[in-house]
Amino acid sequence: MTDNVVWQSLSVNKVQRAECKGQKPCIIWFTGLSGSGKSTISNALEAELIRLGAHTYLLDGDNMRHGLNKDLGFSDDDRVENIRRVAEVSKLFVDAGLIVITAFISPFQRDRDIARALVDEGEFIEVFVDTALEECERRDPKGLYKKARAGLISNFTGIDSAYEAPANPEIHLNTANKSPQEMVQQLLDYLRSEGYLQ
Ligand code: ADX
Repeated sequence: MTDNVVWQSLSVNKVQRAECKGQKPCIIWFTGLSGSGKSTISNALEAELIRLGAHTYLLDGDNMRHGLNKDLGFSDDDRVENIRRVAEVSKLFVDAGLIVITAFISPFQRDRDIARALVDEGEFIEVFVDTALEECERRDPKGLYKKARAGLISNFTGIDSAYEAPANPEIHLNTANKSPQEMVQQLLDYLRSEGYLQ
């Protein structure tokens, strides 16, 4: 499909775009079960980064499924396509020099690895929001686990659709014994120590 289409080289590059912002672009890729806290923590992280003067962009699963990915459901194939599009969009934002935050279940390791491979070394930070299924189900903020258990939703992650926990994430958030603010601090400490923030 890209026959007869030649890549156009442009004169401003990622490094120059990021330098204007005094930051190192990256994707902070949250993964975890529905109700694990991805949206809450990523949202709090973005607010803190903005307060520190960083230029960010947050892509959230539920929101993307209202727009760019509204044609996709929750079969394995649709989830793969969902994550493929999110990864490509994230790559564009990294090229724009931004700190991109993504909050998707992204249940399959292979797709997260494909997303990682789209960007340069050191530009992908996998964050495992580790909340046990029992706790997510106890919280059930959207009432979806209840519906899934009642058979009203099929292919629900953790119930009748797989979740593959990250094998080797850059950051492992054990949500059981930490507040969202403590986890945001853990993330900021990592970003500072690895030179993503000045
Ligand atoms: S992903 O698996 O493709 O990465 P994504 O993060 O975009 O999922 O969307 C997950 C959100 O969709 C959940 O937080 C939940 O609110 C909603 N949802 C609706 N149906 C399902 C389902 N079958 N499995 C998981 N989440 C679902």
